[in-house]
Amino acid sequence: MRRIKVNTATGRSVLIIGGKLNDLPSLLPPCRLFIITDNNVRALYGDSFPPAEVLTVQPGEESKSLMVAGELCSRLLAAGADRSSFILGFGGGVVCDIAGFVASVYMRGLRHAFVSTTLLSQVDASIGGKTGVNMGRFKNMIGTFKQPEFVLCDHTLLSTLPDTELLSGLGELIKHAAIGDRELFFDISASLSRLFEHDQVSLENLIYRAVKIKAAIVRRDPLEDGIRRVLNFGHTFGHVLETAYQIPHGIAVMEGMMIAAELSVWKGELPYTEARILKSTLESAGVMKVHDLPENILGLIIKDKKSESEYVNMVLLQSIGKAVVRKLHIDELKAFTEYFIQMEG
Ligand SMILES: NC(=O)c1ccc[n+]([C@@H]2O[C@H](COP(=O)([O-])OP(=O)(O)OC[C@H]3O[C@@H](n4cnc5c(N)ncnc54)[C@H](O)[C@@H]3O)[C@@H](O)[C@H]2O)c1
Repeated sequence: MRRIKVNTATGRSVLIIGGKLNDLPSLLPPCRLFIITDNNVRALYGDSFPPAEVLTVQPGEESKSLMVAGELCSRLLAAGADRSSFILGFGGGVVCDIAGFVASVYMRGLRHAFVSTTLLSQVDASIGGKTGVNMGRFKNMIGTFKQPEFVLCDHTLLSTLPDTELLSGLGELIKHAAIGDRELFFDISASLSRLFEHDQVSLENLIYRAVKIKAAIVRRDPLEDGIRRVLNFGHTFGHVLETAYQIPHGIAVMEGMMIAAELSVWKGELPYTEARILKSTLESAGVMKVHDLPENILGLIIKDKKSESEYVNMVLLQSIGKAVVRKLHIDELKAFTEYFIQMEG
């Protein structure tokens, strides 16, 4: 078990990588506890929950809505939650995003923490203090920054994760390596089969190294004014594909990374051979093909919150392990998407 501290202006967080559910009682403060979870996680792990009032949401992205957040607030109020209560989000990225959001707005903010139960949330979603809900088809349009007091990542919980969700988590794991650690990238590539066999040693080692990358970026830029944007590598195209085709977040990010790597080559930032290496690792992990870009792709990208007027912040690679943010004019992006569609077709 290893601990990583993230101290920022938005709060302090301790990430417990390789911790165990048994550690939970010693981590929780002596407050009235409310657990927010989803039905799948409750069915699997409800027996291990500490004594608490349990609020469940439906599994899936649809639960990341203002309506569900409002319902959770009503249920907290009805159950007597007050400013001294503590919220524990127990689940994957959807649960963390909505539980973190509710914890930051209910009565202007309650203390909170996470038990992170998917690979995607252990490497990414539970870390860094971003909370969010979607507005219709646009992701994370409403949200806050609030650091969870702790994040418990017990990798044995991943043993019940379906392969598709493991693959989705692998997307964010590979992304962290692609933007910040070349050696980690090649270690992940070499460990793919062990990861799918849920090898605990490989999982802990790779998750720890990936979380260290994210934690270092979050410490430098907790509110995403600059360097933190590199964490969005693959996300501008990924969000569009995720919503258009209803595919898991991390798988959409993998496809988005393939497109962003092509864009990096097209812009002359990334050698073609590096893009090939990235693509071949993603294919070995299990990404079959990139879904067709929707016809109104540019409109969808402009609406994405990462765009500023006619320019869009795009994260490009200069090599595997080194990312840069470039402002691209929308006309340039249009020319690229036309080129990409022709190339794929
Ligand atoms: N806040 C952030 O910084 C951040 C970063 C990355 C992604 N995200 C968000 O995270 C979300 C995706 O998270 P996710 O991939 O964890 O999806 P998820 O939370 O929907 O979980 C995926 C599925 O796995 C089930 N599940 C959870 N834990 C399980 C377990 N241990 N065993 C078996 N099944 C389990 C869930 O019930 C669900 O059906 C997206 O909404 C994305 O936008 C947020």
